[in-house]
Amino acid sequence: MQYIQDLAQYEGQEVTLKGWAANRRTGKGLVFLILRDGTGFCQTVLSQEVIPDDRFDMAYKLPLESAIEVTGKVVADDRQIGGYEVQATNIVLIHEAEEYPIAKKEHGVDFLMDHRHLWLRSRRQWAIMRVRNRLIYAIHNFFQEEGFVQMDTPIFTGNAVEGTSTLFETDFYGQPAYLSQSGQLYGEALAMALGKIYTFGPTFRAEKSKTRRHLSEFWMIEPEMAFYDLEQNMDLIERFMQHIVNDVVTHCHFELEQLERDTTVLKKINQPFPRLTYDKAVALLKGEEDWEGRNAIALLEEDLKQVQNDLAEKRAKIEEYEGLLAKGGLKKGKMNYYRATADKLKQEVKELEERASNIPQWIESAKNFKHGNDLGGSDETVLTRLFDCPVMVYNWPKDIKAFYMKRCEDDDKYVKGVDVLAPEGFGEIIGGAERENNKALLIERIQHEGLPMEVFEWYLDLRRFGSVPHAGFGLGLERMVAWLCNLHHVRETIPFPRFYGRLNP
Ligand code: 4AD
Ligand code: MG
Repeated sequence: MQYIQDLAQYEGQEVTLKGWAANRRTGKGLVFLILRDGTGFCQTVLSQEVIPDDRFDMAYKLPLESAIEVTGKVVADDRQIGGYEVQATNIVLIHEAEEYPIAKKEHGVDFLMDHRHLWLRSRRQWAIMRVRNRLIYAIHNFFQEEGFVQMDTPIFTGNAVEGTSTLFETDFYGQPAYLSQSGQLYGEALAMALGKIYTFGPTFRAEKSKTRRHLSEFWMIEPEMAFYDLEQNMDLIERFMQHIVNDVVTHCHFELEQLERDTTVLKKINQPFPRLTYDKAVALLKGEEDWEGRNAIALLEEDLKQVQNDLAEKRAKIEEYEGLLAKGGLKKGKMNYYRATADKLKQEVKELEERASNIPQWIESAKNFKHGNDLGGSDETVLTRLFDCPVMVYNWPKDIKAFYMKRCEDDDKYVKGVDVLAPEGFGEIIGGAERENNKALLIERIQHEGLPMEVFEWYLDLRRFGSVPHAGFGLGLERMVAWLCNLHHVRETIPFPRFYGRLNP
């Protein structure tokens, strides 16, 4: 048996592929089956002249997602996905599928989510999962090559890390325990033991949030480095991001193409990332300052004009096609084409209408942004519109950031946190900081936040025994995948997503 991903090695030779029928077209005396075997997709051509009658009939009526084995010759063909086609000499049925619930017609997202266990077989989902896999590999590679030690931190925890409002409480032998919101505090202990470490684990946040960026269960990568300050942390983030983006762009060319991902911006990753203080970011957001001659508010106003023009154009096209369809007398092929194009345009119009109604709200909230607040999702979108690579926002007001962040020496209303915002409207993908290493200041912050001191006693030990400057950050894996694949929502970036309102399958 061979795999589709290896077909190039077998050009001109006979192979046997085992997989599932992802699609089927029939012609006169011919069946074209798109076979998928997990490693890829490949067109197999079955000719009545070659295949015994009973087998040809079986293939002719084969229900989608039936399992089959196809033997045949590998022929290069640029027009086919993967660049090869298999001219079948035999087909064997392994399992005849029942009627497959996911058809080619458009399904709503809820329907697809209910069938996530099957939806994962589709070409888009396949491509996304492959990108996710490659990204994970690149992340491990980067840290391992840099001498970091991968460490696992507990999922049952007794303490909050990122604020108490987002905890999932469970019962741990009669005692309350929380699902981990971050491995960071344990990561700090491990950095004091092993120097440079990173964690890679499931993370839980109980926000009843239905935004396109929130999951209840997601995977976070958290490096922590002893003897690093904020600037070294930012240097590391930049190199790390560059490495993983380059790696995915290089190795997932086919997948990104399947996703119709325009990789122009991804390929600009090798420039230095702009570093903005929070104050500077706010000034840019409000349009009070420009960045290299560009103004965030003015850019958005231009976007709005563009969206309105596109809308008018697309509406006119829909009208034209619908007019032609209403007139009748068209050949079936033309009719189907007009109908499909009109449907596609309507979908695009819906998305543009959403943008047209969002942009004025974004402009309003950006202009009225109050210094001292956290950046909201739309603020991030407005700000990052100025850049074509990730930006780092650092030195944040202390009151909106976690207790463990180190205060700035020159102004203790600010802390040495850093957020990395991805371009193209994807917003925050990394949160990090230099940590408070002064025991007294840390205690003050814990008390100020009203957090229970007892559960942090062990953490304070890290400031009692050889306390050193240290820093780290957390990357949200799913947000990174969403950006790399240019997906509107993070729910498609994880095999079986968990978010508010979704626990099955
Ligand atoms: O900014 P956050 O909350 O930072 C931390 O948890 C720190 N303890 C990390 C550290 O310094 N070691 O989360 C880090 C990242 C975010 O930037 C985002 O990418 C992701 O985790 N994230 C989420 N992803 C999906 N759904 C959610 N609900 C997320 N919350 C955070
Ligand atoms: Mg954050």
